[in-house]
Amino acid sequence: MGKEMEQMFQRKFDKVNSIVDKHERKVSNLIAILQEIQTEYRYLPEEVLTYVATALGIPRATVYGVATFYTQFSMKPKGKYIIKVCDGTACHVRHSEKLRYLVREKLGLDDSKDTTDDLGFTLETVSCIGACGLAPVVTVNDDDVYGQMTPEALTIILDQLISKERSEGSIEEAENSDECPTRNGQVHELGDGKGCLGC
Ligand code: FES
Repeated sequence: MGKEMEQMFQRKFDKVNSIVDKHERKVSNLIAILQEIQTEYRYLPEEVLTYVATALGIPRATVYGVATFYTQFSMKPKGKYIIKVCDGTACHVRHSEKLRYLVREKLGLDDSKDTTDDLGFTLETVSCIGACGLAPVVTVNDDDVYGQMTPEALTIILDQLISKERSEGSIEEAENSDECPTRNGQVHELGDGKGCLGC
């Protein structure tokens, strides 16, 4: 492996290393390690699972076994915003299906695709989340719970999330770029580096 490749590889796994170290490289902490890695990457990339197995000195199959056994873990990339539409009995009879169709339509998802290409959004259908009195229920990242949802209210929520995601996306892009996003790519020099002067 060339030096550059080695450095790239090292940087990629620096975060994983610190998580494994934090858990004292103990096999008994494997679930906690995977949970933290999933929070970092939003899923469990295959190469990271292999890395964890090596770091803990256990077979790759053991790490894979745990990662695939628990439903909390995902081996597929997920979006920054995970929208869960409950389709348990109480929500189903209150037309949760319409909400699911709405999310799919707005985000361009279908049966074979539950995450947007830019990894902004993932749609999940879940069974009862224990808030049947509020049916139909939709959650965003498990933090925000929206009850008695209607297609109209959900449209507003989705529109807000989409515009938030777009603005966050362009800020991230700008931060990773040398170019000023608001002035036709013109770069303004600051004292010790490049940056926008607030045009
Ligand atoms: S069925 Fe949806 S919260 Fe219980």
